Order: sequence, then C-alpha cells, then structure tokens
Amino acid sequence: MTVGEALAATTARLAAAGVPTPDVDARWLLVSVTGGTAVRVSLGSRRRLDEQAAARLSEHVARRLRREPLQLILGSIGFRHLDLLVRPGVFIPRPETEVLAGLAIAVLPAGGVVVEPCTGSGAVAGAVALEASPRVIVATDTSAAAVQLAQDNAVRAGVAVDVRLGDLLDPVPADLRGKVDVLVANPPYLAAAELDGLEPEVVGWDPHDALVAGPTGHEVSDRLVKQAPQWLADGGWLLLEVDPGRAATTVARMTAAGLTEADVHNDLTGAARIVTARRSA
Ligand SMILES: C[S@@+](CC[C@H](N)C(=O)[O-])C[C@H]1O[C@@H](n2cnc3c(N)ncnc32)[C@H](O)[C@@H]1O
Repeated sequence: MTVGEALAATTARLAAAGVPTPDVDARWLLVSVTGGTAVRVSLGSRRRLDEQAAARLSEHVARRLRREPLQLILGSIGFRHLDLLVRPGVFIPRPETEVLAGLAIAVLPAGGVVVEPCTGSGAVAGAVALEASPRVIVATDTSAAAVQLAQDNAVRAGVAVDVRLGDLLDPVPADLRGKVDVLVANPPYLAAAELDGLEPEVVGWDPHDALVAGPTGHEVSDRLVKQAPQWLADGGWLLLEVDPGRAATTVARMTAAGLTEADVHNDLTGAARIVTARRSA
C-alpha cells in the first residue's frame, strides 16, 4: 500500500466512525508512523508504507477509533514555543490557554514572581518561564501524575519551574505571600452536569478533577479569588481562564474580593475566556 492509499483509507475509516476531523487526524497519524512531515503525506504520495509502519498505523487508527485524543496517540502537542509531552491521566492543553499564557507574559514585570496553581502538564508555567524572565515560578497541582509531567516538561524545555503537589496555594512557600506579581490559572470550571454532551475525547480522557469544580463550576476559582489578595504584590495580577458563561460572575467575584480593574478577554474564537484583575498598587 502507498502512503497516499493509506491516507485515503484511514480518512474514510475515521469519517465513517464519526471522528470530527478525519482528514487532519489521518494525516497526522500517517506522519507519526512514517517519520515524515505533514507536507510529504498527501493523497498523491506513491511512497510505499513498509510493514512496520503499516502495523503501527493500524494500531494508532484503532486507538483513534476508540476516540482516544490524537495528542495522546502522537505523544506531544505544540503550545506557544513549547513541544509538550502529554500523557493519559493529565489534562491535554488547549489552544485557548495559549492566550492566557500570553497575557501572563505581557503583564509580568522583569524578574517578577509567578504562581500557577492547577498547572496540569505545566503548559502555562513552562511558556511563561521560557518567554518571560521570572525570578521565581511556582506551579501546583493536586494530581501526582500532573506534577510529574509538569516537571518532565520543564526539564524538556530547559526552564526552571518549581512544581509542587497540593491544593491551590497551599504548597507555595509562605515567604512569597504578598510578593506574587502574576497569579495565573486555568482551574477546573465546569459543573458535573455539563459533562453531558461533551466530546468523547474530553469526557473519556481528560481527568474528571481537571474539568469539574463542583456543583456550580465556580468552586475552585472562587477559592482562588478569595485567597489571591493575600498573595498578590501591590499591583500584582490575577489571571483566570473561565467558562465563557461564567466570565461576568467571575468579574463580580474578583471585584467583591477587593481586586480592581477587572476585565474580560476573548480567546481566538471570540469567546469570553479569560478574566483578569489586580491588587491596587
Ligand atoms: C483544566 S486543567 C488545566 C491544566 C493546565 N493548566 C492547562 O491549562 O492545560 C485543571 C488542572 O487543575 C488541577 N486541579 C484541580 N483541582 C485543583 C486544586 N484544588 N489545586 C490544584 N490543582 C487542582 C487538575 O488536576 C488539573 O491538572
């Protein structure tokens, strides 16, 4: 079988099974088994797929047909300038979170202190460490698998991130209280009932604790908003990724907690995805 024939057959199988982007996924699966580039994998390619590659392709296609996320099959994902490892049991970073990381980078003063609770794979902390110049950057997560992955991703990117296991700000060194310039997080923000109707790739593979905050979806971000004023430096920023339907209530809660300049920022699809506010200087 040629690469072109394999691409056509794989696309057709994924499409018949209702996989949302069969052509894109088929191309990436072919790239992963041929070691080629997306450009070289085309319907017109007459290069032969060797036996080993064909066997791996069939294994990868079977995984995708079970709706395992493409990123887990490929093993890594691009996030800003990072090539992040992804693993089962840890939330897969999403493109909209690149905007959150970009805002953190934009407001961070040189040599500032950054804290990122709910770090997951370490995407945001890693991007900030790589693209800005924090003096200290601490990331936390309640999942041991996430902490391990975030540490591995920091080493892979050649950046120093202090990744700690624990609830929100509990593991952060006490001497950073009142000195944090940027407190940035993409916490779980859904209510359990909202999982119904999400894609199988999300419900079946992203950890429940990464998605669901509690009965209202506000539980984790509320705790963070309440704790933020004690940790932020004068003029320091709180940046939270939110469910667009909860952006206005998050603004109100930040204001009620005594933070100022609360504002909503859109993601790349135009959805109200990020809420920011700061401690007055
Ligand atoms: C939506 S994921 C975000 C992961 C990563 N920051 C990203 O944007 O790709 C939320 C993460 O928060 C973690 N988490 C949930 N509750 C937490 C808590 N109370 N304290 C710290 N981390 C928590 C989950 O384990 C998960 O890794």
